[in-house]
Amino acid sequence: MNIHDLDTPALVVDLDRLERNIARMADLVREGGKRLRPHVKTHKTPEVGRMQLAAGASGITVAKPGEAEAFADAGFDDIFLANQIVGSAKIERLLALARRVRLLVGVDSLDVAEPLSRRAAAAGLRIPVRLELDTGLDRAGLRTVEQAVALGKDLARLEGIAVQGVFTHEGHLARMSPEARRPAALEAAAKVRQVAAALRAAGIPAEEASVGSTPGARDMAAAPGIDEMRPGVYVYYDLMQVQRGTIAADDCALSVLTTVISRPSREVAITDGGTKTFSGDAGPEGSRFGLVTNDPSARFDWANEEHGHLDLRDATIQPRVGDVLRIVPWHACAAVNMHDTVFACRGERVEAVWQVAARGRIR
Ligand SMILES: Cc1ncc(COP(=O)(O)O)c(C=O)c1O
Repeated sequence: MNIHDLDTPALVVDLDRLERNIARMADLVREGGKRLRPHVKTHKTPEVGRMQLAAGASGITVAKPGEAEAFADAGFDDIFLANQIVGSAKIERLLALARRVRLLVGVDSLDVAEPLSRRAAAAGLRIPVRLELDTGLDRAGLRTVEQAVALGKDLARLEGIAVQGVFTHEGHLARMSPEARRPAALEAAAKVRQVAAALRAAGIPAEEASVGSTPGARDMAAAPGIDEMRPGVYVYYDLMQVQRGTIAADDCALSVLTTVISRPSREVAITDGGTKTFSGDAGPEGSRFGLVTNDPSARFDWANEEHGHLDLRDATIQPRVGDVLRIVPWHACAAVNMHDTVFACRGERVEAVWQVAARGRIR
């Protein structure tokens, strides 16, 4: 099949760029002497996960039990569920997963850990956990070394879990200028290291220190005392990463083919890809929903559910109804989750059609 034969909107992956992105990150992490455990929430696609393992990843990271189940069903057997798992329905699924694969889970409080431990002990299991630290994002995670050591001591008394390490998602780096990122990454790495050392000094076997983000990857690869890295969006990249200076536009491997369905005026083109194609995630200004690769000065400035609005006042193209435009989404992870399938292309040839197996697995 040829890319021009695809009906739109269609999510397409450029295989050459995907392979290059996967190889580059694998090299960076390997040269830094660390293990790679990519976050698969970006692609949600077992075929891409297998490419990451083939390039040297030691396992995968997921955010939800549903993602873990989808990847376990596809044969993945080493999974870090890097999130707080709360509620008996999820705990039961987590225990079922722990019987099938090597499973690690995040915790940041006794309120999260105690029910998990109780149910695991009753089932004759001991689940390895990693303490989540906040290093600046202001999301879940312990804020101080003292809090982490106090929790570590409480967890050491629980029968159904075993502290295995510490982790952070240094997502705050994404909001910084490229110059400010390096010192902030090193500070985050130092905090993770310090907590791991303090836990070990208190007799708690926190063996592994794990960090994870694409904007921080270069600096984290060089940081001492870090064992594992979990970048996610690097497989595809997106307009957000381009605007934040992480990467050049021609490294973006994911795009959406959309068809022009209306030309109400010379200044406006309407496409068949709106928020149900790209998601509602958009940048603050300019071409907010995505980069129109045919002409980056065409501004994809707003969208309804099934309509994309392109402002062509500064554009050089004048597309006609029926023309197909290729648009790099603002946020790859959110756009992928809108699609059942992704078309893997080499140049203009469609080499494979992949199911986005963990699409919509929000529980
Ligand atoms: C816990 C965790 N680890 C790793 C990542 C990967 O970060 P990035 O998307 O910047 O590659 C994320 C992203 O949200 C995350 O939440």
